[in-house]
Formats: sequence, structure tokens, C-alpha cells
Amino acid sequence: MIEKTYTMIKPDGVRNHHIGQIVSRFENVGLTIERMELGMVTPEQAKANYAEHEGKPFYDGLISYITSGPVVKMVVSGENAVATVRKLMGVTNPADAAPGTIRGDYGLTMDENVIHGSDSVASAEREIGVFFGE
Ligand code: RTP
Ligand code: MG
Repeated sequence: MIEKTYTMIKPDGVRNHHIGQIVSRFENVGLTIERMELGMVTPEQAKANYAEHEGKPFYDGLISYITSGPVVKMVVSGENAVATVRKLMGVTNPADAAPGTIRGDYGLTMDENVIHGSDSVASAEREIGVFFGE
């Protein structure tokens, strides 16, 4: 099924110059970049995006990290876009992420794991609203 997902290159991914490589990986598998914007995440957007993690021990660090520098916000579409982007990303902890995945190749720690991707179609719709007001 053709669907849209929200994905975001996190501050470490931008700072370490991985934007081009990551966008290439999406395009290489046939996904389409629908929208793309480089800029800061506001505290309100960060809290809305990570509401499910409020109260967890890593929550405050996560919010301050995601608002610490510019990110690349994207809407990506294509066949099974949500699952396809998650597969390209690799698992949450870069130390466990397989080589060949974005986190496996460009990340080192759980706190700075290069990229975010929506985990369901419902999350994607919500997050596209948060970041692009659609
Ligand atoms: P994301 O939302 O950023 O795409 O990552 P994810 O789905 O793979 O992982 P999620 O469970 O949603 O966690 C969001 C972010 O919080 C940090 N985290 N730290 N120390 C910990 O146990 C822990 N668990 C999660 C990670 O930076 C993760 O990307
Ligand atoms: Mg998540």
C-alpha cells in the first residue's frame, strides 16, 4: 500500500554530514521525498513527538537533545513507507543495529542515534501534523 511516513535526521546526523547519504538511501529503494526542511525542532514539537516517553528516565535528555541543533524534517512516501524507513534505519541502539543500516553505519550511542522514523501509519499522520501542520 502506498503510504506516507515522517522521518527526521537528528542533530548528530546533520552535524556529522550524513544528510546526503541518508536521503540517497531513501531514493535508492524508490521512496519519494515529498517534503524536506532543515531547521530547529521547537520544545513543543519535541514534546508532541515523544509524548509516549514522558516520565521515562531518558525523556528529559531526549527532549534537550532533539532541540539542540538543526535537524532535517521529511515526509517520505511509497510502498510500505513506514516499515521500509524503519528497516533502513535499523534498531534503536546503534550498537545493536546491523551494518548496512543507517544507525549501524552512522551511529554509536543510544542517545544520538542519527535518525527518527514514525513507527506506524497513525504515528506518521500525527507527526506530519506536528512538524508540517498538514
Ligand atoms: P525514534 O522514535 O527516535 O525513531 O526511535 P525508536 O522508535 O527506535 O525508539 P523509541 O523507543 O521511540 O525511543 C525514542 C528515543 O529515545 C531514546 N531512548 N533511550 N536509554 C533508553 O533506554 C532509551 N530508550 C529510548 C533513543 O534515542 C530513541 O531514539
Ligand atoms: Mg519511536
